[in-house]
Amino acid sequence: MIKIAPSILSADFSKLADEIKDVEADSDYIHVDVMDGHFVPNITIGPLIVESIRPITTLPLDVHLMIENPDNYIGQFAKAGANLISVHQEACPHLHRVIQQIKSEGIKAGVVVNPATPVESIKPVLQDVDLVLVMTVNPGFGGQSFIDSALSKIKELKTLKENHNYHFEIEVDGGVKPETAKKCVEAGAEVLVAGSAIYNQEDRSNAIKAIRDSVK
Ligand code: DX5
Ligand code: ZN
Repeated sequence: MIKIAPSILSADFSKLADEIKDVEADSDYIHVDVMDGHFVPNITIGPLIVESIRPITTLPLDVHLMIENPDNYIGQFAKAGANLISVHQEACPHLHRVIQQIKSEGIKAGVVVNPATPVESIKPVLQDVDLVLVMTVNPGFGGQSFIDSALSKIKELKTLKENHNYHFEIEVDGGVKPETAKKCVEAGAEVLVAGSAIYNQEDRSNAIKAIRDSVK
């Protein structure tokens, strides 16, 4: 059974609580995109918003940090109620240390690779992480087009996972909609993040169902 993680980046922030409630019954995680205007050319939200949405939902908060020096903020996001924090390989010269830091907060740790970053670069930490997030767009904005070349990386991760009995989940993020979701799942994706494909539709339950149906 595939997991769905709506990205609140495309939600209406003036009524965030309602927007989360609207997807809760049909979803598995709430995906929270944190951007700092340095690592990516956009600024979104910080620990304060994570703290304020924490009581709104019982779903795990899947916090995707697109920020420089993420190690400086892991404590704050964990305290705010993140259940899983993912950091970019490209933002962490000391990736192993940052992953251990996340785990030391008693929460799950994920690693993210941009479209141009090879799987090879995260091989040494695959045994340590709970999630690997494969970006299928260049991070920074919702509503971008899916980058097909990322599919081979999903396959590569699936093979590594099977061969080594790793426990991480394979998540994809960017341009996921019914037409692209199938390719991701066929390649080995287990968690699908979707922002605009869910929140730009009036009936969110139907939008999630369309994604689920497309991968059956
Ligand atoms: C992109 C973010 C995504 C974004 C996806 O930088 O990490 O989570 O919200 O949006 P869609 O699904 O519209 O591509
Ligand atoms: Zn994201």
